[in-house]
Amino acid sequence: MQESKIELQVKPLGWWVRSHFCDELGIDNVDQQVCLMGWVQYRRDHGGLIFIDLRDRKGLTQVVFTPDFNAQALEEAHGLRSEYVMAIKGIVRERPKDMINPNLKTGEIEVAVTEFRLLNRSKTPPFIIEDRMDAAESLRLRYRYLDLRRPSMSGNIVFRSRAVQAVRDFLHENDFIEIETPILTKSPPEGARDFLVPSRLNQGQFYALPQSPQLFKQLLMCAGMDRYYQVVKCFRDEDLRSDRQPEFTQVDLEMSFADEEGVMSMSEGLIASLFKKVLDVDMETPFTRLSYAQAVAEYGLDKPDIRFDLKLRDVTHIVKGSNFRLFAEADLVKAMAVPGGGMLSRKDIDDYTDFVKIYGARGLAWIKIRENEWQSPIAKFLTEEERSGLSIELDLQEGDIVFFQAGLPEVVNTALGNLRVRLAERFDLIPRDVFAPVWVTDFPLLEWDEEEKRWVARHHPFTSPRDGHFDLLKTDPGQALARAYDLVLNGNEIGGGSIRIHNSRDQQRMFEVLGINESEADSKFGFLLQALEYGAPPHGGVAFGLDRLIMLMSGTSSIREVIAFPKTQKAACVMTEAPSQVSPGQLRELGLKLRDKPGQG
Ligand code: AMO
Repeated sequence: MQESKIELQVKPLGWWVRSHFCDELGIDNVDQQVCLMGWVQYRRDHGGLIFIDLRDRKGLTQVVFTPDFNAQALEEAHGLRSEYVMAIKGIVRERPKDMINPNLKTGEIEVAVTEFRLLNRSKTPPFIIEDRMDAAESLRLRYRYLDLRRPSMSGNIVFRSRAVQAVRDFLHENDFIEIETPILTKSPPEGARDFLVPSRLNQGQFYALPQSPQLFKQLLMCAGMDRYYQVVKCFRDEDLRSDRQPEFTQVDLEMSFADEEGVMSMSEGLIASLFKKVLDVDMETPFTRLSYAQAVAEYGLDKPDIRFDLKLRDVTHIVKGSNFRLFAEADLVKAMAVPGGGMLSRKDIDDYTDFVKIYGARGLAWIKIRENEWQSPIAKFLTEEERSGLSIELDLQEGDIVFFQAGLPEVVNTALGNLRVRLAERFDLIPRDVFAPVWVTDFPLLEWDEEEKRWVARHHPFTSPRDGHFDLLKTDPGQALARAYDLVLNGNEIGGGSIRIHNSRDQQRMFEVLGINESEADSKFGFLLQALEYGAPPHGGVAFGLDRLIMLMSGTSSIREVIAFPKTQKAACVMTEAPSQVSPGQLRELGLKLRDKPGQG
């Protein structure tokens, strides 16, 4: 590598104005004078010539320093390094045929530099700024501003911006208005823990960050706003996973004078127009609908991935009197036949057995269907009648494997439902580039909380029961169904909503069922109960998880890939080092005192 004899000086941008982004120039621009600005991606030093791949948010352009155009610039360019920031002026030229790069949008041209300015230097980055790199995620998050320079990451962020624009366009065209709601608030219960913010002016009191704007959007309906939306940050202090963040974004909407059909068809229009505009994918509407009961029966989960078959079957009636005690005594026995699964090894089966234990299963029974025999530790227990019953129910073929779960319905369904997804991945049953939305409806209104020994709302306490189901709340609460709906896309819950209770008396009755007494209801939700007394219109809405939606649309595997500055599994930002300690003075001002050792006692 040749070092420059002339020292490379950083210069101000001055009056230079960019003429094009780095993805724009092509054959049509040949002989034009242009001005580009960006970062040095690569420098190739050929002695008498220096090539730089100049990168900006949109792409790369090859610029070339040659003695014919500016000998001094060529000399200085020896000093350019990766990630230096520069501006160049030059002439667009056609590349010689053998130098054309068909993989690059600007690959037919290069810009011969007539003048350049070094705008800033860079230290050597801790990882290379390229899509193909294997830096650990923690390093990427520490230097997120460098990570976001990589084309795939900046692509995700730009994609997200385009998607939000498409959402806003659709909602404005449909008479929704965007209204901001408070962040320092009193949170409606959505089931997760709140993030609390101490108040300086009201010592000993706390705001909660909103888990969602649920109550405010209902109050906006009481205020006559009719159609509201917001692209809004929500905060939930819960255990994190690849599809969960402590702060995440919802596309939140609410409509007056609408029933389930109204909200669901508006939502379908929104999702279909989003996919069309951003991905040019045509989504057929109306979307498939499954009742909660049907989803759980066939797929084991309330977020069914309907892109592949592999359905679960209830075989309780076939094995009720079995010699196999586990089957005979279970509340529910379900089976899933996997075509071609007979090739699975003992090790594979052991791994799947460990996998279902995550969901509370104690084991995993299986049978391999061979030509003349059923190979399985449980085969000896099964009578001819049971075998033929299973064969018919599961349409068994040679080479299949059947997996069974027996026990409590909750465990049987979640264990087999999750195994179903795992096996579909293993056997490559999931078609690529297919988006399969499905509404799940008719959810139970309540669920029994074993720890607290009381009924709790499955969605939230503002969800309306189905017509006539209010009375069930007294007699058989578990049977009451909700006017709620979730939207599931490829096995991910991307949205949920409901028709709300819109009169104060019913809302109070609901609180009673949930064990929230009058004074508690009054102190927590008095403002809502009051608002419902002043002519609240019937209303309902939905909220979509924007991060999840963008993750699925962009084909990434974690929502962290589509959030500019996400948190780690421990809800920390490794770049800013939040959360962090605060000064004793700040604590004093807030009237707070820490225990000697945080996290103890
Ligand atoms: P819900 O709690 O179902 O409904 O949330 C709506 C959608 O938000 C997404 N989501 C999340 N995304 C990332 N990280 C999280 N921690 C997280 N939690 C939820 C999911 C989910 O479907 N107020 C109601 C909506 C309504 O009734 O209108 C609500 O918040 O994709």
